[in-house]
Amino acid sequence: MSSDSTPLQSSAVIDEAVQTLLDGGLVAFPTETVYGLGADAKNPEAIKKVFATKGRPSNHPLIVHLAAPDRFDQTQVDWVPVLVPWVRDLSEDALKLINAFWPGPLTLVFKKDKSVLSEITGGQDTVAIRAPAHPMAQELLRKFRSGVVAPSANRFGKVSPTSAADVRHEFEGELGLMVLDGGDCEVGIESTIIDLSSSDHPVLLRPGLITPKEILAKTGIKVYQAGEQFKAGDSLPRVSGSLKAHYAPTTPLRLYAPGRVLDALSEFLDTKSRVAVAVWDFESSLGDDGHPSAHFEEVEVPSDSGTFASRLYRSLRDLDQQGWDLILFPEPPVGEEWDGVRDRLQRACFGSGPSSSNHDSN
Ligand code: TXA
Ligand code: MG
Repeated sequence: MSSDSTPLQSSAVIDEAVQTLLDGGLVAFPTETVYGLGADAKNPEAIKKVFATKGRPSNHPLIVHLAAPDRFDQTQVDWVPVLVPWVRDLSEDALKLINAFWPGPLTLVFKKDKSVLSEITGGQDTVAIRAPAHPMAQELLRKFRSGVVAPSANRFGKVSPTSAADVRHEFEGELGLMVLDGGDCEVGIESTIIDLSSSDHPVLLRPGLITPKEILAKTGIKVYQAGEQFKAGDSLPRVSGSLKAHYAPTTPLRLYAPGRVLDALSEFLDTKSRVAVAVWDFESSLGDDGHPSAHFEEVEVPSDSGTFASRLYRSLRDLDQQGWDLILFPEPPVGEEWDGVRDRLQRACFGSGPSSSNHDSN
């Protein structure tokens, strides 16, 4: 992590952030996935500020972020005391997952302890928890000595921030918001979320860097896709990332199938337009033959899923600010390692564009 070698923020600044949280204020901080907008998980007024600042409906639950136990780099670490104040029913599967993947980009949903505020859980009986791996997040959480709720530090439905500058840009009007700078986020898309709260099976609620395949390989635990084990009529827990429109730029964004850039454009026939076309780094240039009047510019995107994810939101934000009329991205290939990226891109397409007519949220 960049902050390992070059700390961008001194200890004194983290102490100030801790004090801000204790005083009921908000602190944006880096995690390895995306930046979070943090507040004291035990302070209902502070939690209300998070919803108000994001413009997020209050029934969309938040993730509680916890510090890893001391010496988390050693194999025998006891997570139980860390979790007991927040959850009930800590299953063997849960401990296996935690030992394999925490601290890291994995969020687990548990039955909640009764002391967990309903403001966090959207009134549900469950709570989502994760221990982020970013050293600055860990230092903040260790010094704070309690849980910090932190949704991604973006306005509701918009692209998540992967740098401190993104957060400042997102909340330009919010004078005095404290933003810890821990450099660029390495993972670049939000954590994988797995629901452990139903008695049957672990269920994938949001795909991310950590895939069911990797979980099976490392722990022997089979994670079901949401829907796989649900019968009609059952209700899934509310996950705001599961809204069709999310992570969305203001510029219209579309995906194109391999070699079908022109098809993707046919929707935009009146395009006298400036179009940014993302192309795989292994592809030769699209060339300018046979393209309609549109002005194209190509932007290379990495063909490795992890690198693609780490740059996705950065690219969407940058392209969104460059005044294109349309952004085209290649459809991600089939394969679990692309599921997180595909999920974010599809929702970003659905919610993109200047009007909110596509949003089934907001
Ligand atoms: O990587 C991440 O998870 C980032 C960083 C900041 O940690 N956080 C993040 O938070 O993505 P947010 O609020 O943008 O997304 C959290 C997701 C939401 O979709 C929410 O609905 C879901 O977690 N969630 C929270 N509590 C839940 C619960 N009890 N049951 C089901 N889903 C829950
Ligand atoms: Mg979010």
